[in-house]
Amino acid sequence: MKNTKESAPHKETVAVMGLGYVGLPLALLSRESGFEVIGFDVNENLVRKINDGICPIPDDEKVVSKFTENRFPATTDPKALAKADIILIAVPTPVDEMQNPVYDYVVGAATLSADNLKKGALVVLESTVNPGACEEIVRPIFEERGLKVGRDVEIAHSPERIDPGKSVFSKGWHIGNTPRVVGSFTKDGTKRALGFYRSIIDAEVRPMKSIREAEAVKILENTFRDINIAFINEIAQCFDLLDIDVLDVIEGAKTKPYSFMAHYPSCGVGGHCIPVDPYYLIEQAQKAGFDHKFMRRAREVNNFMPEYAVERMQDALNSIKRPMKGEKIGVMGLAYKANVDDLRESPAFKIIKHLKHHEADVITFDPHIPGKSDVKTLEAFLKKVDHLLVTVDHDAFKEIDPAVFKKHGIKVIVDGKNCLDKEAIKKQGITYRGIGRK
Ligand SMILES: NC(=O)c1ccc[n+]([C@@H]2O[C@H](COP(=O)([O-])OP(=O)(O)OC[C@H]3O[C@@H](n4cnc5c(N)ncnc54)[C@H](O)[C@@H]3O)[C@@H](O)[C@H]2O)c1
Repeated sequence: MKNTKESAPHKETVAVMGLGYVGLPLALLSRESGFEVIGFDVNENLVRKINDGICPIPDDEKVVSKFTENRFPATTDPKALAKADIILIAVPTPVDEMQNPVYDYVVGAATLSADNLKKGALVVLESTVNPGACEEIVRPIFEERGLKVGRDVEIAHSPERIDPGKSVFSKGWHIGNTPRVVGSFTKDGTKRALGFYRSIIDAEVRPMKSIREAEAVKILENTFRDINIAFINEIAQCFDLLDIDVLDVIEGAKTKPYSFMAHYPSCGVGGHCIPVDPYYLIEQAQKAGFDHKFMRRAREVNNFMPEYAVERMQDALNSIKRPMKGEKIGVMGLAYKANVDDLRESPAFKIIKHLKHHEADVITFDPHIPGKSDVKTLEAFLKKVDHLLVTVDHDAFKEIDPAVFKKHGIKVIVDGKNCLDKEAIKKQGITYRGIGRK
């Protein structure tokens, strides 16, 4: 059921714990919807920035303008949480080097909220977790402090679905109109969480029968994506051998009006969610005695793609009789997705590692992350390199006229995102390889 968002002032105070890609927009949306908002983060620099009026997500114009219109105070002092009627937790849930879920941030935030709780407050975990995490990890933190669920605190889960980079406040799907699910331990907890989200979101907010179901929804969504991407990545590798252009085939398949959903191959899956979340369920299923073979295989396929992109470079260089050793190869892009400066789990770093392993002379450039790039301008970058490996489909890359590549003597382009005009590049006499096309 669609709801009409109320923007009249609310009496309740909302505290948002974790003011990152998820928490900041959530705090702004809550403020815009008429709530008093307190931002809490353990990162002092971030809190200082917010209080100084500097938007911590400067690349996204819409976030910047919402930030200017909906200022809220931020703090590192957990005592401030005691003023909150509703606490929203949006802290990281990464995996460690062994791909085991890391719950330290959730434990840290839940502990601070339990230690400083206003009696009767609603605590909602927005971070992505596996089914059972609220029951096994979050709830005991409150109960160990004598706080009874349903009497002293309500605990709920509503997984965040925003897609940063497409602007969390953009015209299409954004934080304010993307449907939600909520689950809680008690009927009252579900009712309160529903009430809150219905007052900030113009979309269906669906109650789930349990908090575990709400947790499972997010894991299902993200593993669905990971598996489908792995499937098309495998198809792309096969099509490279069969000399079939995967993009043309996807366009053809898309003419079927039902039962096909396009996914696209690339040099790797990055970000904080898709390459991470499946491991949460894989680990939990393992503990329960179930082996998620299909999901593990999908992870393997997607984890291999950076190496595959380097194989494509090797193949292209072989075709022009040049070894990879000592070649000046430009890694074009460091971010994990288009038009953002987010480096988390970015395939670019694995690509750099593999190129260096082959003793290539690697030079990096990302216009969104000049601080981490070897060179600061496109012109300087193209002057320095002989070949390019595109790792991300930034608009700034897609807009380059292929004649510019030619002018700078570029000989090979590996298009890890299949985002460039291959025919126009080939017309310039440049050797082109995509992922599933050449
Ligand atoms: N970024 C996305 O695209 C996205 C989308 C949907 C869901 N999620 C999920 O949302 C959660 C948050 O992701 P994010 O991208 O916003 O992370 P982020 O790293 O951008 O921000 C997290 C913030 O939490 C702070 N923090 C860490 N420990 C804390 C504590 N104990 N108390 C208060 N603050 C603390 C960090 O300093 C940081 O500022 C994760 O579970 C993620 O999987 C992310």
